[in-house]
Amino acid sequence: MTLRAVVAGVGHYLPERVVPNSEFEKTLDTSDEWIRARSGIERRHFAAEGETTSDLGAAAARAALRDADMTADDIDAIIVATSTADLTFPSAATMVQAALGMERGFAFDVQAVCAGFAFALANANALILSGQAERVLVIGAETFSRIMDWTDRGTCVLFGDGAGALILEARTGTGTAQDRGILATDLNSDGRYRDLLYVDGGVSTQTTGVLRMQGNQVFRHAVEKLAKTAETALEKAGLTASDVDWIVPHQANIRIIQGTAKKMGLPMEKVVVTVQDHGNTSAASIPLALSVGKARGQIKTGDLVVTEAIGGGLAWGAVVLRW
Ligand code: UT7
Repeated sequence: MTLRAVVAGVGHYLPERVVPNSEFEKTLDTSDEWIRARSGIERRHFAAEGETTSDLGAAAARAALRDADMTADDIDAIIVATSTADLTFPSAATMVQAALGMERGFAFDVQAVCAGFAFALANANALILSGQAERVLVIGAETFSRIMDWTDRGTCVLFGDGAGALILEARTGTGTAQDRGILATDLNSDGRYRDLLYVDGGVSTQTTGVLRMQGNQVFRHAVEKLAKTAETALEKAGLTASDVDWIVPHQANIRIIQGTAKKMGLPMEKVVVTVQDHGNTSAASIPLALSVGKARGQIKTGDLVVTEAIGGGLAWGAVVLRW
């Protein structure tokens, strides 16, 4: 008998305001055509004034609880993957905990930028396998619109706001790759690449800062590292790319998504793509895509799903799970 962290529910929330590429044509030397061609993005959502990351996260959490037919009382732990928490502290996770009316258990944030949801899933899996929690609410929530340099056309057209949530529950399996739940994880980071993608401010420097990115350099690392981490995670699970039903990648750029699928020898028919509608929502992109993929009827119970992501750090990783 093997303990497995199995998906019991999924949900998402997107802010009401939708911003099409054409909005940027008014203030920047850019075009809808360039943004679509170079990134695949057509529109993104921006949070309303006063709407915070924990608001988005709590709304996604409520949707996941509904999907799982659970209440906040059923949850033992909350992990929020975010780089855009409401305040320096307390964590966005404790704010979500309070918003849900949850008075027991524990909550904390994980910060691995765009790879944050893979890191959060790996942490949740470890909590469940070590018996520290039976049900973990894992959320990716971001308001990247708050850290944009609106004069930098190379970054501000790419990002969006949103949140997605997954509930993982301890269930017993047989110990084979046929089990439902998380089958393997692979996490990596290399701090030597910090200058490729970072925010040029923070508490310890008494500034807020905006996002800076050497996009083409990150691009070069992305395809190679994403395919490698996905293959490593599959290998750890005793599986290969041919076993995969769905790749659910971090949604940063359609060309990175296509390049990674090609490198893994998988057709685009096996990839959940939402980048056109959400833009890059950093740690929220994977749970958003999982939720949308399920709602579209793409991801079904028993399907083998591989998620992979890379972002600032650089930090990157993959999670193999059977839905
Ligand atoms: O989520 C975290 C991880 N992040 C990523 O995965 C992002 C990775 N990078 C990318 O997605 C792409 O590198 C970008 C979409 C950011 C850029 O695409 P690219 O094909 O790598 O373009 P580039 O940066 O090499 O720029 C090509 C040209 C430049 O002009 P010159 O120097 O060739 O004259 C840019 O100034 O495109 C120009 N450019 C733009 N033109 C119109 C950059 N941004 C824009 C823009 N509109 N918004």
